[in-house]
Amino acid sequence: MSTHSTGPAPYPRAEVSPPSGELFPHKHLLGIWGLDPTAIKHLLDTADGYAEQNRQAKKSTDKCEGLTQINLFFENSTRTLMSFEIAGKRLGMEVTSMSTGTSSIKKGETLLDTAATLNAMRPDVLVMRHADSGAVKLLSEKMDCAVINAGDGRSEHPTQALLDALTIRRRKGRIHGQTIVISGDVAHSRVARSNIYLLNAMGARVRLVAPSTLLPKDVDRLGVEICHRMEEGLEGADVVMMLRLQQERMQGAFLPSLREYYQFWGLTHEKLKYAKEDVLVMHPGPMNRGVEISSDVADDLDRSAIEEQVEMGVAVRMACLDILTRGLREEDGQ
Ligand code: NCD
Repeated sequence: MSTHSTGPAPYPRAEVSPPSGELFPHKHLLGIWGLDPTAIKHLLDTADGYAEQNRQAKKSTDKCEGLTQINLFFENSTRTLMSFEIAGKRLGMEVTSMSTGTSSIKKGETLLDTAATLNAMRPDVLVMRHADSGAVKLLSEKMDCAVINAGDGRSEHPTQALLDALTIRRRKGRIHGQTIVISGDVAHSRVARSNIYLLNAMGARVRLVAPSTLLPKDVDRLGVEICHRMEEGLEGADVVMMLRLQQERMQGAFLPSLREYYQFWGLTHEKLKYAKEDVLVMHPGPMNRGVEISSDVADDLDRSAIEEQVEMGVAVRMACLDILTRGLREEDGQ
């Protein structure tokens, strides 16, 4: 016999999921894994519209007026946090951001207690970044509202992969059939993992170019080509995505020295000659200039799409917030 009764839930569970058969039949955006090409395309098409709107003088709408967005970041962020704030505001939402420095997490509150506390404030969307893989999914199970993963450990960073895909699609016209090199610290990169899932789903050819110490253990199951020399790996590349060396996630010796790393793995104009002439250079930021990429390649306006990636970040995040709250707005008759 059970010794305790669970009783009624304090709040009715909000039915955020759109009706079945919709283009994006998911309550949360926890990763690219599990999204089909139709859902990815729907997110990108919606973001494309916002990218155009964001280039107009009047950038805001009242589409999501009355809704509340909470950004909960347990790790540092410039681009992701700022663009989620701007995206929510441009849709007319009330946006509040909390970082660990100012929260009760510092006083020892557990993640699940934090979830219960925030849930009681009845947000409509929660955007979360955390150093542990799986933490965002765990929290999503305790929240009534839609949850967006803004990066969890080395697992996934779905909105980064979407903004990268939007940048590629706008610059190259399509993703299907493109040879896309992802180079650098793949092992510690949630950006790489989400990109691999997305680019594979959309029919690109993905090639990882990195020293074996910086490849993930499950690399053989990722459906990618692997290359251990930059010159060879860049051959015929349409796009090259460079990754930051994430030294904060490294325990032990992964590399000889930063100077040697740059010599072998840093992207320079010299090495770029092996790629296609119109190769697009990308980096999710923050960049370590002179480590994984030379300053003149990063700033080469003919090739680098790094600032456009940031621009597309706002559009993609608007699309995600819009699509995940659609069910709520329809309920309200909007
Ligand atoms: C990335 C991240 O946090 O995973 N940054 C970002 O969101 N633009 C990549 C990184 O930190 O190197």
